[in-house]
Parts: sequence; C-alpha cells; structure tokens
Amino acid sequence: MSRINSAKFRSKVMSAEQAAEFVSNGDRIGFAGFTGAGYPKAFPVALADRINAAKARGEEFRIVALTGASTAPELDGALAATDGISMRVPYQSDPIMRKKINAGISEYSDVHLSHSGPQVRNGFWGDLDVAVIEVTAITADGRAVPSSSVGNNNVYLEKAKKIILEVNSWQSADLEGMHDIYSVAQPPNALAIPITEAGQRIGSTTYPIDFDRVVAVIETDAEDRNTPFKPLDDDSLAIAGYFIDFLTNEVKQGRMPKNLLPLQSGVGNIANAVLAGLLSSPFEQLTSYTEVIQDGMVDLIDSGKLKVASATAFSLSPDAAVRMNNNAAEYRKRIVMRPQEVSNNPEVIRRLGVVSCNGMIEADIYGNVNSTHVMGSRMQNGIGGSGDFTRNAYISCFVTPSIAKNGDISCIVPMVSHHDHTEHDVSVIITEQGVADLRGLSPKQRAKVVIANVVHPDYRPLLQDYVDLAGKVANGQHTPHDLATAHSWHRRFLATKTMKPA
Ligand code: COA
Repeated sequence: MSRINSAKFRSKVMSAEQAAEFVSNGDRIGFAGFTGAGYPKAFPVALADRINAAKARGEEFRIVALTGASTAPELDGALAATDGISMRVPYQSDPIMRKKINAGISEYSDVHLSHSGPQVRNGFWGDLDVAVIEVTAITADGRAVPSSSVGNNNVYLEKAKKIILEVNSWQSADLEGMHDIYSVAQPPNALAIPITEAGQRIGSTTYPIDFDRVVAVIETDAEDRNTPFKPLDDDSLAIAGYFIDFLTNEVKQGRMPKNLLPLQSGVGNIANAVLAGLLSSPFEQLTSYTEVIQDGMVDLIDSGKLKVASATAFSLSPDAAVRMNNNAAEYRKRIVMRPQEVSNNPEVIRRLGVVSCNGMIEADIYGNVNSTHVMGSRMQNGIGGSGDFTRNAYISCFVTPSIAKNGDISCIVPMVSHHDHTEHDVSVIITEQGVADLRGLSPKQRAKVVIANVVHPDYRPLLQDYVDLAGKVANGQHTPHDLATAHSWHRRFLATKTMKPA
C-alpha cells in the first residue's frame, strides 16, 4: 500500500532517473542522511549515472553535496566515485569520499554539525537549489513523516528551490510520533530553545512541505545501511570500565546525581563499546541528550536503564536496525529525534549539563585533541558533533585505545598534528591504561597525569623524555614545547611506518 496519502503528491511520483533530470551542473543539493540512516537511496545513484553520462559526453557536471552528516555507499560512495562532488559539507566517513577529499578531487568543509543548518539558512553557502529528503510517508494533509534521521532536513526543506521526496516503505510506519521538528529562529530574532529535559517535546512530529516547490516524489523500499560495529575487545571493555569508575566517583563526590546527567556518546566503535559497558553498570534511570542512537543505546533502553534518549539519527548495525523497525512503536516512547541544530545546540547542551564521551584520533600531553586528521594532513571523517558537545559539556571525555596500528602509533603524542578540541575544552582522557582527569590542572600538571595514567607503557618513557627536553628548551615557560621535535613522532611514522625509534 502506498505511503503517499495525498493525491497531489501522488501526481508527482516518478522514477529516480526522471527526478535526477531536475539537477543542473553546479547545483547545491541538501541531502537527507545522518550516518547510514534516513538518506535517499534511489536518487543519488540515478544522479551518479547522469553525472557519468555527462562526463562521457565531455560535459562538466559537478554538485555541492550538503547532508546532515555521513551517509552510505548509495549516496556518498556513488556520487564521490563519479568525481562529481565539487564540495562536501559537513561530515563524511565513506571510504571513496574520503579518498577523493584527500586526493584533492572534492573540496571538503568540516564545519560543526550544529552550525551547518543555520549556515545554510543564513545564506553562508549561497542559494540551495535542491533538497532530496527521505521520509516514511506523506499524510493526507500534505505533511511528511520523517525517517530514521532528521539532521538538517528541516532547513533544506525550508530553503531549497526544488524539493524531491523519497518515500521509503522499508522504514517502519511506527516511526511516526518519534520526531520533534522545531526550527531554530536566527539572530536578531533568535529565541531560547525551550528544552529543559532531554525527553521534552517542543515541536511537531512531521515536516511541513511547501507543495509548490515539490518537483518529484520517488517511492523506494530500501534498507538503511550502516557498517556493523567492531566486536568488543579487552581494550574497549577496559575503557568502558574506567569511564564507569570515573562516573561512579563523580556521584560519590556529589558532583552528579545518582542517575548521572544526560549522556552524549559519539560515533565509532569505542563510543559504542562504552555504552555497552553502561549496561552492566549500577546506574539506573539514565537519560541521554546526544546526536546518534547506537546499538549500545538501544540495549540500554531495552534493559530499562535508559529512560529517554534525544538524538538526531540512528546509527544502528543491520541487526539493531531490524530490531528498531520491528518495535518502533515501543521505542518511540523513549526516543525523541530532533533536527541537528537542536540535538547539538550548544546552549541546550550547556544548560542540561551533558556529559560527553567521544572517540578521537590522538591527544597530546596538555590535553589538546585531534578528532579528524591522520598524521596532520589526511582527513579521516570530520569533527561531526564532537565540538558542539565537547566545548559545552558539563564534563567532556575522550576515549581511545592508547595505541593504533598494532602499536606503531601512540594515540598520546607530544603535540597533536591537528587541533580540533583545545586544552580549554577537554576534561578527561580515557584509554585502556586508565583515566587522566585534567580538570583543575595547569599544563605541566596535566602532562604528568597524562603520562602516568593513559599512555601505553611502550611510549611512556619516550614521552617523559620529550617533556624533560621541552622543559629545558622552553626554560620552564608555561606550556613547554620543543618546536624542533614536537612532531618528530609523526615524522618518524611517515618515514618509517612506526613512531618507535629504531
Ligand atoms: N593515528 C592514525 N590512525 C588512527 C589513530 C591515530 N592516532 N587512532 C585511530 N586510528 C585509526 C584506527 O586504526 C582505525 O583505522 P581502520 O579503520 O583502518 O581500522 C580508525 O582510525 C578508526 O579507529 P577506531 O579505533 O576503530 O575508532 P572509532 O571507530 O571509535 O573512531 C574516530 C574514532 C576519531 C575516527 C571517530 O570517533 C570520529 O570520526 N570522530 C570524529 C567525529 C565525532 O567525534 N563525532 C561524535 C559526534 S557527537
């Protein structure tokens, strides 16, 4: 049975190939999609075919691709493979997209996720030509029911000159009622977002759609595609254990209530593992004000430990996505899915007292964190929402194994090779070695705690040697560095494939 309950919207139904004809060279397109959830599945592939055909004729055909965050092979992968993305904004994690960015074929602007929607709304990215949005249904009165992610969809639907809707009947019809669509007013007319609890609803369950701008409606029945998480290993279990010990002590010290404060958990394997750890923790009645709902979060809801979770998207393994689809009517009692300008809103995060927990590439002895670049130059994924949460959190935590690539890389280095989160924003670093609580410490005190608690034993003496040298070279100044060798570990890795000296 069709999910399009409005005759006028039904009159716009066509194939993805026909819809792709509405795009012109140079168009700026706002796509739905946030992790492998709620992204359009048929249109991007048809557009990729169109771009390839134009290329074969020797014609230029490139687009600017804006999304909520990362997507999946049918969107980022298919379009990036054509070399037809001239600019990508704001977060990606697709291997082909990453390759094109690092080869200089596609430009990439890595903006904070909370900024990306408002920047489009305020015209920082020029006019938006097309919005391509996945929805689960169109109601009889012409509103659209959101899918498994919201991201920037509300903004793209408000701003685009043309709207293309993909109505995906694979998504559970019971997702209706889970969403809370609220558009944030902009300066000088901005108002406070009236959220005082993670689970509070302030908006509507559907998107209003201006039918006059709808040029095409495509019907699909295709599943969301996320990469499964890596299985939990000893290191990720140890990291989760330390995170829980840290939270337990915060409660004991009276710095947090027994059911903690709203938790945010980032993307990636380690952040998911931390959530899995909470499952066997003593904490109850937890709440979450976060960006993505990962498998670990769904398990916490199932166990009854998590009362409510606010996010902008699912980021579920294929198994968990099926579980969600089969039980959406139950899950929507405990999940609120919001636009990313609300889920990641700095003011709300600060006021709710969110405890953030994100993965990272590397940190340095003073607590600066690099979430995005490998060896200073190669883009991995992007900053995502980690900046939105880290800077505004009540306590900001970063989690990582202390080493990567079988020990050839230390994730704690003398000086990060790229800065995403500064020493001013980072409260706690946790590895399988332990916890470095950096709150209330000066840079030199932080270096001591980092080396003692979170560095892998193979690298601990080397890092101490660096601190001793830096202290001498900088003559005891406030944040001692030896600029001649601060990046010598990275340089050594680039030259010899290991940070360890010969
Ligand atoms: N140097 C080089 N490579 C490193 C590294 C380092 N210091 N640390 C990790 N890596 C590599 C890993 O080896 C792995 O490579 P592989 O895919 O070839 O196996 C990859 O980076 C991912 O590492 P993993 O340990 O599996 O971590 P993860 O899945 O938890 O992801 C980030 C870590 C940093 C990539 C991920 O958290 C991220 O993209 N963060 C930025 C966005 C963000 O924080 N969003 C949260 C929003 S609320």
